[in-house]
Amino acid sequence: MPDTRERLIVALDVPNAPEARNIVAMVGDSAQIFKVGKQLFTAEGPQVVRDLVASGRDVFLDLKFHDIPNTVAAAVSQAAKLRVRMLTVHASGGLRMLKAAVAAADSNSAVAPSRRPLILAVTVLTSLNDEDLPEIGVSGRVLDQALRLADLARTAGCDGIVTSAREVRELRRELGPGFIIVTPGIRPAGTAQRNDDQERAATPAEAIAAGASHIVVGRPITAAPDPAAAARRILDEIASACPVPA
Ligand code: C5P
Repeated sequence: MPDTRERLIVALDVPNAPEARNIVAMVGDSAQIFKVGKQLFTAEGPQVVRDLVASGRDVFLDLKFHDIPNTVAAAVSQAAKLRVRMLTVHASGGLRMLKAAVAAADSNSAVAPSRRPLILAVTVLTSLNDEDLPEIGVSGRVLDQALRLADLARTAGCDGIVTSAREVRELRRELGPGFIIVTPGIRPAGTAQRNDDQERAATPAEAIAAGASHIVVGRPITAAPDPAAAARRILDEIASACPVPA
């Protein structure tokens, strides 16, 4: 039985390192991978990542790089040096940018391949819906765009994608097994928080059953009275949805 903790990513969406440390301590051994996003990274810089890695945690660096290929490659190199486990880039940066990110991860990990960060491409932001796409010059539905960008990411050699729960089933069918699909917008079964800002929320079991390899969960764990217990309940939901590895 695979470690279900490998499939849960806890989002540290807090404004400073002490709050992040507090959450990590409260979660304890109930989670292994922690997401550092733009808020915490902008406030505290790379030291917050170094501290997590030094304490034996895995870091998902969610800075969604989107720039010219050379700049993204340089940023990925720095992230690899921080020994993050996974990081995000925007698939809409295009094939050359994605390939540059993958190449930078490869070259910075030549000495220790096990430390190569996984490159995950964000398809369509979960905040966008079908009506928003024409405004940014995209025709078709969110699902079409997510499929197009997922295909681009795979062609570029990325390790996986980030996509909303709503598109997971079709994307898994299209991409087959083995490609990482990370899904945010998760609300555990029976939670009172289902209507935060999670228009397209799914339960952990729904997301995993639909084909997500990993789920990102923030407030249902970090704002819970007992974050460790909340995380363990989610691990149970993951296990019940998928007894076999994705
Ligand atoms: O809502 P929650 O606190 O679980 O969010 C955790 C993370 O999931 C956030 O850091 C955000 O990046 C991501 N998220 C998302 N789309 C949503 C909700 C959250 O991408 N609809």
